[in-house]
Amino acid sequence: MAKLVSNMASTLSGTTLVPGDKSISHRALMLGAVAVGETRIQGLLEGEDVLATAAAMRAMGVDVKKMDNQWIVNGVGLGGLTQPDGPLDMGNSGTAARLLMGLIAGHEISVTLIGDKSLSSRPMKRVMEPLEQMGAVFESENHNAQLPLTIRGRAQPIPISYDLPVASAQVKSAIILAGLSASGITTVVEPHPTRDHTEKMLTALGAEIKICNRADGAREISLNGQPELSAIEITVPGDISSAAFPMVAALVVAGSQITLKNIGLNPLRTGIIDSLKEMGANIKIINHHVHAGEEVGDIVVRQSPLKGIVVPSSRAPSMIDEYPVLAVGAAFATGTTRFEGVGELRVKESDRLAAVEAGLKAAGVVVRSGSDWMEIDGCGDGFVPGQGLVETHLDHRIAMAFLVLGMGAKNPVSIDDGAPIETSFPGFVELMNGLGANIKAL
Ligand code: S3P
Repeated sequence: MAKLVSNMASTLSGTTLVPGDKSISHRALMLGAVAVGETRIQGLLEGEDVLATAAAMRAMGVDVKKMDNQWIVNGVGLGGLTQPDGPLDMGNSGTAARLLMGLIAGHEISVTLIGDKSLSSRPMKRVMEPLEQMGAVFESENHNAQLPLTIRGRAQPIPISYDLPVASAQVKSAIILAGLSASGITTVVEPHPTRDHTEKMLTALGAEIKICNRADGAREISLNGQPELSAIEITVPGDISSAAFPMVAALVVAGSQITLKNIGLNPLRTGIIDSLKEMGANIKIINHHVHAGEEVGDIVVRQSPLKGIVVPSSRAPSMIDEYPVLAVGAAFATGTTRFEGVGELRVKESDRLAAVEAGLKAAGVVVRSGSDWMEIDGCGDGFVPGQGLVETHLDHRIAMAFLVLGMGAKNPVSIDDGAPIETSFPGFVELMNGLGANIKAL
């Protein structure tokens, strides 16, 4: 266990990049693997989660390597993945596990997926159900819908039309990935639009995808199966879910101003910026442009007094990973912040509502929560007591959120384990200390 302590920072200043987008990185490796030709990827996230995907693709016969500053995937074409020799270890990554199940469902191979303690306790039924309808067969050692699981795919899955019961880009993507090998149209209907990186990247590779936004707010995505996918060059922008940590840190540390360069600003991911602005944050986007179908820009953040808000459930899909750090921002606000419709946070890398509540309470902040909501009574800027040892439960975002809390709190905040940060934000401590934070090993 790598214990870390975050002491109050004087000011944060400077210009920096953050590591590549995790969602786009997983998809670049998986789609590159089933395209024809050589996919070149710039800016791939070299975090443990994405490296698990790279290793899985290699184990299924795909040549994936890093040369100079680029990652190169020699695609085997749709249907070309081969039987791995042993189980594939997806580590901590729900995205890797669920998206791979979709890809495997469209191949005549049988693959056992395993993961760490956190991943092995996450629900997989949501992805098994539609994939079973498409013809995949699952076997589970423990007779439950959790890893370890063995999935047997088929060369020609059955195309289906599926209404997602939960707004989940992972489940949507798994169905689309299986639908790639199906003959005919596979349709997914999502109750609220979720991140659309799979749809965007597949379209860039040559697949035919139709999107229909329904009057009730739902979105229908239809894929014409068995497309010719041609390899392309992919540039991965900085991850807004990682940028959120230095953003909130700069808002709560007196006198701060930072610039985060080249951050992905896909409109289905920017709920955190909307929420922080509503709280009074001084955030400006400069150099806004579109690169390879994805919006990108630089984010300039200045320290600002924040006020409590209600974050509506309709915003949850566009900032689902940012609630832990927004809760930390809310602790520095004046007034109460309420999160609505956030039950999904209970099944992330940890039960994030429970972990945030325990950590904030340990730091002297008043919090209340229910099955799918949370309220934080802000202490006001400069008045968060701090102190306490926060349990991170193998959850990178809990670890980083509470290190941010320590940067603005009166007393140091410690976390029991900083190791999970490597899954999504390698170099986080060095980057934050470079901007002016004071994080040390305990
Ligand atoms: C992701 C989707 C989200 C998100 C996760 C990445 C993706 O999960 O929390 O970190 O890349 O598709 P859900 O699909 O479970 O909401």
